[in-house]
Amino acid sequence: MKSILGIGNALTDILAVLPDESLLHRFHLPLGSMQHVDMETGDRIWEALKGYGVKYVPGGSAANTITCAAIFGMEAGFLGKIGNDDLGNLFKSTMEQYGVRTQMLYSTKSSGRCMVFITGANAERTFADYMGATLELGPDDLCPEYFEGYDYFHIEGYLVQNQDLISKAARLAKAAGCTISIDMASYNVVESNDAFFHNLVENYVDIVFANESEAKAYTKLEPRKAIDALAQQCDIAVVKVGKQGSMVRQGDEYHFIEPWPATPIDATGAGDTYAAGFLYAHSLGMPLRVCGEIGSIIAAKVVEVIGTKIDIPRWRDAKQEIRDLIAANQKG
Ligand SMILES: Nc1ncnc2c1ncn2[C@@H]1O[C@H](COP(=O)(O)OP(=O)(O)OP(=O)(O)O)[C@@H](O)[C@H]1O
Ligand SMILES: [Mg+2]
Repeated sequence: MKSILGIGNALTDILAVLPDESLLHRFHLPLGSMQHVDMETGDRIWEALKGYGVKYVPGGSAANTITCAAIFGMEAGFLGKIGNDDLGNLFKSTMEQYGVRTQMLYSTKSSGRCMVFITGANAERTFADYMGATLELGPDDLCPEYFEGYDYFHIEGYLVQNQDLISKAARLAKAAGCTISIDMASYNVVESNDAFFHNLVENYVDIVFANESEAKAYTKLEPRKAIDALAQQCDIAVVKVGKQGSMVRQGDEYHFIEPWPATPIDATGAGDTYAAGFLYAHSLGMPLRVCGEIGSIIAAKVVEVIGTKIDIPRWRDAKQEIRDLIAANQKG
């Protein structure tokens, strides 16, 4: 089985179901918004939420992808920065429980967290993010040994905001012979790092994952044309269009991939798990279409659960469906 190293924000979700919106008002958080807060506010919010029986879920986009790849059976590693605190320890030990080899770096700042206020009958989510230690991950933290022995290197697009970090990471991964993939993460990260992103994709990245808005920010085109443009700049382009499915392209080979049937309740984690499924299939040498289909199967499981962690029965179903698909493709 091939191996994959990911780099990303080591963030833990702190979820609290609240009886009303009073805490939102107290911290000046508009309902449904996502705001970055400083350490002091972040600590005050966390203290306030603790009164409501919070749930801790270690996450972050690349960390989710890497965890999922580990559950598929890939040898998986994760590079990220945490504080020397309980939240950081929880993040690290949770990834290790899934079999991920962690390469954590430590900051004097406290560990990053996304505090999620869940309110109302529709479970509306309002976010207050404290990035803390994650923002301290810099180029000087990286050394060639971290990359040695890995077949794949997966980059979380959010980190592209630190261009020096990602330049060095991409250089080291390339030197170590890794296939490099990136999840573009967010259209505004793509927009605000336009020239850098293009340089990165054209010179280093083999596999690009973008959703519709990220593909548009990068190419200024609608998905079907965007994938053609993207595929001219890298080996494999993937454009995801939510519940409509996804498109994959490598050279002249193009496939539209129907979504796998699901009863969706929460789309969180769809993109992260799709990437894991795709890369896992790619590492097995599966044809391009099958890589997209395996991404879709696992993404269809995560949209059926709240949050980013697929439950055991759904993992069992996914693995069976994937085995069947692989067997069918090996036969014919
Ligand atoms: N309702 C759904 N039913 C089945 N599959 C879905 C559904 N929504 C998403 N998916 C699958 O998940 C894939 C990725 O979803 P999406 O296009 O939302 O990516 P994304 O925007 O990167 O997601 P994220 O918000 O997690 O970053 C889709 O291409 C599709 O295969
Ligand atoms: Mg995404």
